[in-house]
Amino acid sequence: MSLDQFLTRLDQLQSDAESAFTSASDAAALEEARVTFLGAKKGQLKDIQKMLGGIEKADKPAAGAKLNAVKSAINAAFEDAQQNLSGGDDSGADPTFDPTLPGTRPSLGHIHPITQTISHLTEIMGRMGFEVAEGPEVEDPWHNFVALNIPEDHPARDPLDNFYLATAKDPSGKSSVSAGDEGSQLLRSQTSTVQIRVMKQVEPPIRIISLGRVYRPDAPDATHFPMFHQMEGLLVDTNVTMANLKTVLRVFANNYLGEDVEIRFRPSFFPFTEPSVEVDFLWNGTWIEFGGAGMIDPNVFAAVGYDPEKVSGFAFGLGVERLCMRRHGITDIRDLYSGDLRFLKQF
Ligand code: DAH
Repeated sequence: MSLDQFLTRLDQLQSDAESAFTSASDAAALEEARVTFLGAKKGQLKDIQKMLGGIEKADKPAAGAKLNAVKSAINAAFEDAQQNLSGGDDSGADPTFDPTLPGTRPSLGHIHPITQTISHLTEIMGRMGFEVAEGPEVEDPWHNFVALNIPEDHPARDPLDNFYLATAKDPSGKSSVSAGDEGSQLLRSQTSTVQIRVMKQVEPPIRIISLGRVYRPDAPDATHFPMFHQMEGLLVDTNVTMANLKTVLRVFANNYLGEDVEIRFRPSFFPFTEPSVEVDFLWNGTWIEFGGAGMIDPNVFAAVGYDPEKVSGFAFGLGVERLCMRRHGITDIRDLYSGDLRFLKQF
């Protein structure tokens, strides 16, 4: 065999082997190709190597050099193909990677304790037939005050006690809003607004709860925060009595706080209920106030277009944080909103 022929066969072998390796689609096919070209006994490279003996002595160095070059090229092509098949990650070859070490688990978040509480309260009230209603957090004074029988001169409408918004009416951004300004929107100060929205929309009988954020400019301390949550309840039907109200709240308290929790009503005043009460639960030997309640004031029914002679109803508003804090032994409301994972991870 001439040197030229020998070199040509080697080139041919290299290109055959390279294309066989790159087209091998799995480990078995690659192994088959490896045996064909690099096999120690019958591999094609071995066959050609044997032909080296028939080359002219003077041509042998050139032939040998070419043979070695082709051999390493084919070996390299095989290794490349092998790496590609294993995802390009030759992890076994990396001395710093120990596949027997345990992996790093991705850390998962979880539902915030207040959201958990909201689900729990919704579930308890749902068993008594109360459906969830929602309302906007940015409200107009009609829903937040007027329809709820809160007159213009009522202290609850004071700009200092509410987050009024600097809207288009007040482009300067200055707080030129007066308490009676019907046009200025505000962050709702109570979820009682949802009572109005629901009654404007549907006819009795009504049995809803609404859980959500309310806003008041209070300085934060252990029991106050400028944003907190309320659970509003509203039931409208015929011949509704205060006994119905008390039963619903007692069953609620027994489900959420414990079978032995007792309930107490103290006379109070809210513009939208008559009579009005403060709601206390007896918890571990102390009476604790959880919110307000009462029978819907006829003026509220009139504001939404109901006939106060025909329908009656009760409403209540309880503090969600207060309930959650009592149940879980949380002593500082600010912990709920600090975003501190050491605190949040406990729930
Ligand atoms: N909206 C009252 C507040 O934020 C709580 C309240 C009292 C709600 C009596 C009611 C109610 O529905 O009947 O202080």
